[in-house]
Amino acid sequence: MSDADRERWDSRHAVASPAVGPPDALRGRTDLLPAGGRALDVACGRGAVAVWLAAHGFAVDAVDVSPVGLAAGQELAAAEGVAVRWRLHDLDAGLPAGGPYDVVVCQRFRDPAHYPELAARLAPGGLLVVTVLSEVDAGPGPFRAPAGELRAAFDGLEELHHVERAGEASLVARAPLTGPGLSAPG
Ligand SMILES: C[S@@+](CC[C@H](N)C(=O)[O-])C[C@H]1O[C@@H](n2cnc3c(N)ncnc32)[C@H](O)[C@@H]1O
Repeated sequence: MSDADRERWDSRHAVASPAVGPPDALRGRTDLLPAGGRALDVACGRGAVAVWLAAHGFAVDAVDVSPVGLAAGQELAAAEGVAVRWRLHDLDAGLPAGGPYDVVVCQRFRDPAHYPELAARLAPGGLLVVTVLSEVDAGPGPFRAPAGELRAAFDGLEELHHVERAGEASLVARAPLTGPGLSAPG
């Protein structure tokens, strides 16, 4: 990532303040979460989801390129009395080493090149929770997923929930008990 892009994210994280809560795709469906274990929040921003996962008993690794976002996450975790392992990392280099994870969340950060890695980091039976900007109801855009992208990318997982509307697409899916499931790159 360029310095200019990182600074742009830092400025966004200096003002925005999301409330601690589950990933959007799990709102009303938190029963899908495993009872506990390890969780990874990819591009965690200010850490609202990472802190929520930690408060629900997960050992959380939270990754982002923005020091400002991660500092906000640290403050949030301290205020909530939970521990999260914050990892400053540029995802342009791929996901950092780690896992397997019982939950992998990637919310509003889209890079299809990462899809195989997201699935590969899941423990057997682990839960994947992805939300991206979508072209559905919004039209084409440089950061938007074409219709069906998430389903096609993760078709080796058991789909539990999928929605594409109003410019967003979400998928909640479970890895097979025998290992990560992912279609071969096309
Ligand atoms: C739209 S925000 C989403 C934040 C959070 N997941 C949420 O749902 O609130 C996108 C996040 O991706 C991070 N990001 C963008 N490019 C990145 C990169 N190359 N490596 C790591 N993080 C990146 C930004 O710093 C930002 O926190």
